Amino acid sequence: MTASSARASGPDGPRIVLSRADGVRPVVLLASIPLSALVGAAITLAVSSASGPPAASPTSSLAASPAAHVDAASGPVPLRAPDRASIPEGPLGEAIRRGEQLVTHTAEELPDHVGNDLHCTSCHLQGGTAAGAGPWVGVVGVFPEFRARNGRVNTLDRRINDCFERSMNGRSLDPESADMGAIVAYMTWLSRDVPTGREVEGRGFRRIAHPPTPDRAHGREVYVAQCAACHGEDGAGRRTPEGAYLFPALWGPRSFNLGAGMARLDTAAAFVRANMPLGQHDTLSEQEAYDVADYFIHGDRPDWERAAEDWPSGGRPPDARY
Ligand code: HEC
Ligand code: HEC
Repeated sequence: MTASSARASGPDGPRIVLSRADGVRPVVLLASIPLSALVGAAITLAVSSASGPPAASPTSSLAASPAAHVDAASGPVPLRAPDRASIPEGPLGEAIRRGEQLVTHTAEELPDHVGNDLHCTSCHLQGGTAAGAGPWVGVVGVFPEFRARNGRVNTLDRRINDCFERSMNGRSLDPESADMGAIVAYMTWLSRDVPTGREVEGRGFRRIAHPPTPDRAHGREVYVAQCAACHGEDGAGRRTPEGAYLFPALWGPRSFNLGAGMARLDTAAAFVRANMPLGQHDTLSEQEAYDVADYFIHGDRPDWERAAEDWPSGGRPPDARY
């Protein structure tokens, strides 16, 4: 292990420092700041990565998830989260705030519906407002939408429940429940300034246009050097000394299952390229993003029991896992 690679723990427990050890690219080193500072570091990094959507590289495109019914000629609109002052008073405002709490503390708030330790916002970063990280701004106006994966037209709550069942390795919410109402209320508030039927710039994940052939052995090296400091050498993530959420798992029994979009190579590489390492997005090359994604998606993870039901009328993507 070189000076620029990361160790998962030191004599006094996990430590972290940000440095430019290779003179070119910032790397995360575990060194001289105690674990309590990790929380602060994560928050600072999350805030620093909120400074705006990253510029598209020549080989990336902003094309995102399938949205065939959206009028492409009218083009995407800028992604802007609404001002918090626009959350109304009264029961609707309470539902919006409750929805925000549910999506940002999902495992803690909805233990009967979540089979891992993730939050919705582990992937839909910054409360679902980050370009290239599956933003929910505008999502209310583009559903219902046909999806090849289940071969039918999906309402927004069906799409949300897909992420409960796969990304959260859990169980659907009753579409009639107050909790589903709160999540939809939050997304509706986020979408308030986006015209119905229009997509925002940076919807979905910023797909890499010409996928390179991944090198999993090199991906392991990238993982150890650039990811393990936060997500753990064993991929299980990290918690605070009090046991609270800090860094989410990338594989293992507390991660997303095989049916999740993030288990697919193209999706995982796109997410990583645009968003990770947290606070240093767009520093990995496309090749490195593919290498490291190929490494972590193939870690052991929960199975997807209803695999046989997916893509009933074709359209299975080449990187599907089953
Ligand atoms: C492990 C990562 C992960 C987690 C956790 C996760 N999702 Fe997703 N979500 C995805 C991926 C991947 C997609 C598909 C994006 C694409 O098609 O490009 C997606 C898509 C969506 C969409 C559709 C977005 C669009 O533009 O069409 C919604 C809505 C959504 N998720 C809601 C949620 C909710 C609510 C939760 C928590 C219950 C959640 N997600 C948890 C990865 C995740
Ligand atoms: C500085 C800490 C840090 C580093 C380094 C880092 N991540 Fe993350 N990562 C996070 C945090 C924090 C989240 C969740 C964001 C949230 O909850 O707001 C996350 C989320 C993720 C997710 C989606 C959630 C999940 O658990 O599946 C993936 C995938 C991911 N990171 C992959 C990587 C990869 C690959 C690398 C290395 C190239 C990396 N990360 C480096 C902190 C980090």
